Amino acid sequence: MWDSDAAYDSFMGRFSRRLAPVFADFAGVGAGERVLDVGAGTGALTEELVRRGAQAAAAEPAPAFAESLRRRFPDLDVRETGAEELPWPGDSFDVALAQLVVSFMNDAEAGVREMARVAGGRVAVCMWDMEEQQLLASVNHVRERMGDAGPEPRRYRTAAELQELLGPDAEVAALDVVADYEGFEDYWASVLGGAGPLGEWVASLDDARRETARTELIRELGDPSGPFTLSGRAWAAKISG
Ligand SMILES: C[S@@+](CC[C@H](N)C(=O)[O-])C[C@H]1O[C@@H](n2cnc3c(N)ncnc32)[C@H](O)[C@@H]1O
Repeated sequence: MWDSDAAYDSFMGRFSRRLAPVFADFAGVGAGERVLDVGAGTGALTEELVRRGAQAAAAEPAPAFAESLRRRFPDLDVRETGAEELPWPGDSFDVALAQLVVSFMNDAEAGVREMARVAGGRVAVCMWDMEEQQLLASVNHVRERMGDAGPEPRRYRTAAELQELLGPDAEVAALDVVADYEGFEDYWASVLGGAGPLGEWVASLDDARRETARTELIRELGDPSGPFTLSGRAWAAKISG
C-alpha cells in the first residue's frame, strides 16, 4: 500500500508537510527534545522535527519508506517496525508522535501504549477528518458514486474517537491546513500516482472507468480552470503522561 515515496509526496505529502509544523506546535515540541516519529513515512514530520532542533528518531514498517528516510536523514535512528512493538527501552524519548498513522495501525491501542512506554507517557496523534479533508473527500465521493466500496480506513477520524483512544485526560483539537495545486492536471497526476488506499483504487480502474473517475473529479472540484487550493482538517489528541 505504501511503497513509493514520490507518489506519496505528490498525493498526500503536500498536505502532511503543511500539517507537520502545526502538529509539532500542538504537541509542544521544542529544540533539544528527544522525539520519536512513529509511521514517519517519507519524513514530512521528521523534516519539521529536525528543522526545529529536536533530536528525532523514526519508526516505519514499510521497507521502501524506511529506506527513503535513511537516505534523506543519514544521521537519523530509523527502525523498520510498526508502533505495536517499538524496539526502544522505556523513557527513551520526551515525546512520541504519530502523524496520520493510527487509522493504519493493526492495533492502535497497542500502538499508543507502546508510544507512551518509550516516551514517559507523552504522546500526540492526529488523523484527517474524512469529510473535512478535501482531497480524501473528493476521491471518496467519486468512488462511492461509481459504486466502489473503499478500503480507506475510517476509524479514529473524529475528535470523539481520538479522545477515546488517548483517554479522558487527552486534549483534542482541530488542525487546519491548505495545499496548493497548479491546476486540475496537477491534482489528477497526484491521484493517478497510486499512493495509499485511494491511489490504489484509481490505479485498479480500467481505462473507461478511469476516464469516468477523471470527469467526475473535475465536477466534484467545481471544474477548476487554473490554480486552486484544497483544505484539510485533522483531529489531533495529546496526553502529557
Ligand atoms: C498516511 S502515511 C503518514 C506518513 C507520515 N507520518 C506523514 O505524515 O506524511 C501512514 C504511515 O503509517 C505507516 N504505518 C502503517 N502501519 C503502521 C503501524 N502499525 N505502525 C506504525 N506505522 C504504520 C505507513 O507505512 C505509512 O508510512
